[in-house]
Amino acid sequence: QMNYKIAVIPGDGIGPDIIKEAQRVLEKIGEVYGHTFEYSELLAGGAALDAEGIPLPQKTIDECKNSDSVLLGAVGGPKWDHLDGKMRPEQALLGLRSGLGLFANLRPAVLFNELKAACPLKDEIIGDDGLDIMCVRELTGGIYFGKRGTDGSKAFDTLEYSEEEVKRIAKQAFEIAMKRDKKVTSVDKANILDTSRLWRKVVEEVAKDYPEVTYEHMYVDNAAMQLVRYPKQFDVILTGNMFGDILSDEASMITGSIGMLPSASLGEGKVGMYEPIHGSAPDIAGQNIANPIATILSTAMMLRYSFSLEKEADAIENAVKSVLAKGYRTKDIVGTGEQSVGTNEMGDLIVQEIQK
Ligand code: NAD
Ligand code: IPM
Ligand code: MN
Repeated sequence: QMNYKIAVIPGDGIGPDIIKEAQRVLEKIGEVYGHTFEYSELLAGGAALDAEGIPLPQKTIDECKNSDSVLLGAVGGPKWDHLDGKMRPEQALLGLRSGLGLFANLRPAVLFNELKAACPLKDEIIGDDGLDIMCVRELTGGIYFGKRGTDGSKAFDTLEYSEEEVKRIAKQAFEIAMKRDKKVTSVDKANILDTSRLWRKVVEEVAKDYPEVTYEHMYVDNAAMQLVRYPKQFDVILTGNMFGDILSDEASMITGSIGMLPSASLGEGKVGMYEPIHGSAPDIAGQNIANPIATILSTAMMLRYSFSLEKEADAIENAVKSVLAKGYRTKDIVGTGEQSVGTNEMGDLIVQEIQK
């Protein structure tokens, strides 16, 4: 019997609601498979600002480092939007990502067959075999972490990448591609940006070590278009911090809703962080309508990537599919003839489906 120590950061808006459901799913996995999960609940984002006056208390970082993995809901909201850059809730996320060295963000955009009707693209674009894209986003560099400032009536943000930073994320993408359909599309803006030209050069070097993987370069504007024109051309999308942020939100909609997409943030250290790709959705907070599936699927990624609990991760994904197959949907993915359920009820249904 194994005991896993998980740092839990509910955050703001819908964060606490979706995290609650994800924890219930973990508890059920523990019961069924004989593991124990030990949680330490921590503050970050607006919740930390309200309680302690800063978005990321030192205790939160320390506890995360002392855990086996981190589960995060979402941070931010209108209440804190007036705050100055360094004091905003979102800064907590950047601090956690860089503090834990989580340079690789995996965002799988998988369209479950059960959810085909929720995909806004035409049937002939998707076909019968669904859609499965892995977006590999660089997470601790680029314009998110460059020198920035405001000087009177001017403001600036700088975009930098080093060869080393590109190399390690490119390697991750090619390694992942080896276990999938062996295709990498590296997305950049090399017709304009020096960082993108460096990015291309390094990707080409890394590609030499993976002769079985086909790879291509694509400009980000074209990639945004191709994602809705013919998403099945993509297997692994490798890209920088900001492009990955934007393209993964776009890809999520193809899977039915942004409420469906989980993520894993990994690095060289032992601690990974798992969170839905969506935000705190202040417009629907506290109404029991948020889709908890992205967060629940993030726990499956945790079991798989941090704890190597493959069967347990499969059990969560299968439970989600069974519930969808029975026609239960949260408001964001519901269609005609389907049963609309709330956040709690969706959590209940998934918990009930978990089995060995
Ligand atoms: P958002 O992702 O929170 O919401 C965008 C839209 O998607 C909203 O209409 C929302 O209701 C809907 N949505 C999001 N998640 C959903 C879910 N699980 N179920 C059903 N519908 C869902 O993005 P936003 O509105 O641009 O940002 C809101 C706040 O969240 C901002 O403060 C932003 O900075 C923050 N944010 C945080 C994270 C994070 O913590 N990882 C990510 C993105 C945005
Ligand atoms: C995400 C979010 C964050 C990002 C923000 C809130 C810092 O949009 O996780 O996708 O841009 O990385
Ligand atoms: Mn985002």
